[in-house]
Amino acid sequence: MADLFDKLRMEAGPLAKYSHLPDDYFFFPKLEGEIGPRMKFNGREVLVWSLNNYLGLANHPEVREADARAAQQYGMASPMGARMMSGNSDNHVALERELAAFVSKEDAMLLNYGYQGVVSIIDALVDRKDVIVYDAECHACIIDGVRLHMGKRFVYVHNNMENLEKQLQRASKLVEETGGAILVITEGVFGMSGKQGDLKGVAELKKKYNFRLFVDDAHGFGTMGKTGAGTGEEQGVQDQIDIYFSTFAKSMAGIGAFVASEKRIIKYLRYSVRSQIYAKSLPMAMVLGALKRLELLKTRPELKDNLWRIVRALQSGLRDRGFYLGDTQSPVTPVLFKGGVGEAANMAMDLRENFNIFCSVVIYPVVPKDVIMFRIIPTAAHTLDDVEETLSAFSALKKKLDDGFYRKEELVAVTRPR
Ligand SMILES: Cc1ncc(COP(=O)(O)O)c(C=O)c1O
Repeated sequence: MADLFDKLRMEAGPLAKYSHLPDDYFFFPKLEGEIGPRMKFNGREVLVWSLNNYLGLANHPEVREADARAAQQYGMASPMGARMMSGNSDNHVALERELAAFVSKEDAMLLNYGYQGVVSIIDALVDRKDVIVYDAECHACIIDGVRLHMGKRFVYVHNNMENLEKQLQRASKLVEETGGAILVITEGVFGMSGKQGDLKGVAELKKKYNFRLFVDDAHGFGTMGKTGAGTGEEQGVQDQIDIYFSTFAKSMAGIGAFVASEKRIIKYLRYSVRSQIYAKSLPMAMVLGALKRLELLKTRPELKDNLWRIVRALQSGLRDRGFYLGDTQSPVTPVLFKGGVGEAANMAMDLRENFNIFCSVVIYPVVPKDVIMFRIIPTAAHTLDDVEETLSAFSALKKKLDDGFYRKEELVAVTRPR
């Protein structure tokens, strides 16, 4: 018989094998100072490209002022209790109304966290007779929601509409027997590759198959579409999204999330989403802060314009220099190299220590074993000079990688320089 703690030692997940590395360098790094393109890492100023602060709202003076005022007025505890019991307020209701109107849905419901919210929404939407059909590259919160499902689930090849149709045929057959229904789940923008979910393609299949569509638009809200209402707006199919979700953790630079749909569905969810019913409601300061962020998102188109100016300069600059960015169709900018984990660590370290640039490096198992991915997140707060600095650093990095420079040191030999 095993001791539970012994068993857990190195089985915390696929990334646990890297847990012997210094705790605050590659994993759990501490970025210090005010949120923006220039922050402190390891005691020195770095150019930061790793925050989903797409519109630069995290440190916008009007946001900072609204946050401070709200915290001053209400403290951080208010309101106490779950929304259903004692944690409701006019501000919560007002934010829901404004979010719903912005994404062209009848109603919306606030969630304390996106991750928990998605898990719980999926759990509330389906029962054992129903079938979930979901994209293979969906975010962990969707996968975890699907895990709770007691009925059948079919995964379709990422963004492959032919394969989705095949899965819909299987699902349709099954629900004819069970008397259940079908829920299709995908994302607006996939956060690792930057690819848009083919929402138009999925919507087209609605003409042939009877299903409801749930879209997690965490990376699309505020960044995509003419008004920033997201990827459904971008692709002209917002009305085909039956359940629209986004977090406040990205463009809204806050915490919390929301789900929007028909009035009757939101009403159902209010009484069924366990992560909300059994948890304290979103603090008033976050709600008032979110109202301010939403106001800026709606009324200052220059924020999104700035973001896209930086995105275009960065992505075309990288492509012109021969870098491979996959098929990104959004601000998310993955830069892909061939190489092993050791080389990835050495490259990331070189970038941080010698070029003073901080961006996330993604390694196996998130990407295949011989792939190194640097994930650059441009924001409205970056400048074209930041882009130029980064382009030359990446060119130098690529040359060193091609010359075999990063193969010289083993990953384990990498220690934190001071
Ligand atoms: C696609 C997607 N969905 C959901 C979430 C979770 O949102 P939250 O951070 O609000 O829990 C994230 C990450 O933040 C995400 O990238």
